[in-house]
Amino acid sequence: MIREFTHIDLRDRNSFGVEQRAARLVEFETADDLRELFRGGIPEQWYVLSGGNNILFTRDYDGVLITPVGRRITPLLDDGEAVLVRAEAGVEWDDLVEWAVERGLWGIENLSLIPGKAGAAPVQNIGAYGCEAKDAIERVEMFCVETGTMLTLDGRHCGFAYRESVFKHELRGRVIITSVMLRLHRTPQPKLGYGDVEREVEARGGVSLRNIREAISAIRRAKLPDPKQTGNAGSFFKNPVVEASVAERLLAQWPDMPHYPAPEGRVKLAAGWLIDRAGWKGHSEGHVGVHERQALVLVNRGGATGSEVLAFARKVQQAVRERFGVEIDTEVNIL
Ligand code: EPU
Repeated sequence: MIREFTHIDLRDRNSFGVEQRAARLVEFETADDLRELFRGGIPEQWYVLSGGNNILFTRDYDGVLITPVGRRITPLLDDGEAVLVRAEAGVEWDDLVEWAVERGLWGIENLSLIPGKAGAAPVQNIGAYGCEAKDAIERVEMFCVETGTMLTLDGRHCGFAYRESVFKHELRGRVIITSVMLRLHRTPQPKLGYGDVEREVEARGGVSLRNIREAISAIRRAKLPDPKQTGNAGSFFKNPVVEASVAERLLAQWPDMPHYPAPEGRVKLAAGWLIDRAGWKGHSEGHVGVHERQALVLVNRGGATGSEVLAFARKVQQAVRERFGVEIDTEVNIL
């Protein structure tokens, strides 16, 4: 069923907690709801506002925001080892992780506590602690706005890469994700290689799904601000991927610079480290600041507007450019 709001305050619908309004917002559950919504034609301006965890509103929105609220999780196939699960787009991502962990299903436990909804997971291919959503996504179901029909896209064809997918490019503004199908496994497949994960898991009594979930949750809680208390959108910037020659030049000067191999011989750098070393960690101007414990995260110190956050972000980008000659792109969608 569709629920419709007009001239709606978005403050509680974006994790930055900025106060902007939208002309119209429609909550949908099913594909039929979307058919009904688009029956009268395609609105001139529309945008999917999911959990609002990766968005910065810099002004009021004149068009229609479309929000998934369907929250069903349905196991579809079970061959004794692998289980295919469908999650509707409005399922809270972390509820899905908890659902899987409770049932002894491996595959997404490292993505514990990532804020946002399941339907948004494929869009930016959410990732953390050595795991990405693409590793588990089997298929994505979506409503095609132009044709009014449902489409299913195989995970292999979603153009997944680091914080990237076809949904940010070719399919942007053309489809609305209605559900995501994941392949999860009963055979344990622990991924403990990232940072402190192994140590935190051992401290909880050794490898189990529950211990991994709790270890990751604890690591995240220690580093990342809770959007319920401090407005933020997680990593505001993406980690830059640079040519090997650029990484070599930087490493000659900063031998302790974190760096990771990326596809095609390129090198991924840690934007948090670059911002930190540029001297911006914990720095605030007006109502906006760089988080004290993770420099990738910009925070609303209370009452910030979207344009203030954006202006501050531009300064951070400039500081990193001047210090290291590296461009850091925003991860957050700016509307
Ligand atoms: N670092 C610093 N100072 C900082 C932050 C990081 O020196 O202020 C250094 C760390 O010491 C480490 C390296 O940079 O050597 C990487 O830091 P971290 O492990 O904290 O991860 P990240 O690269 O900063 C990424 C994701 C996070 C995810 C973590 C863990 C992106 C844009 N961010 O951060 O995702 O939780 O890895 O896997 O890729 C998000 O996307 O919203 C998010 C929080």
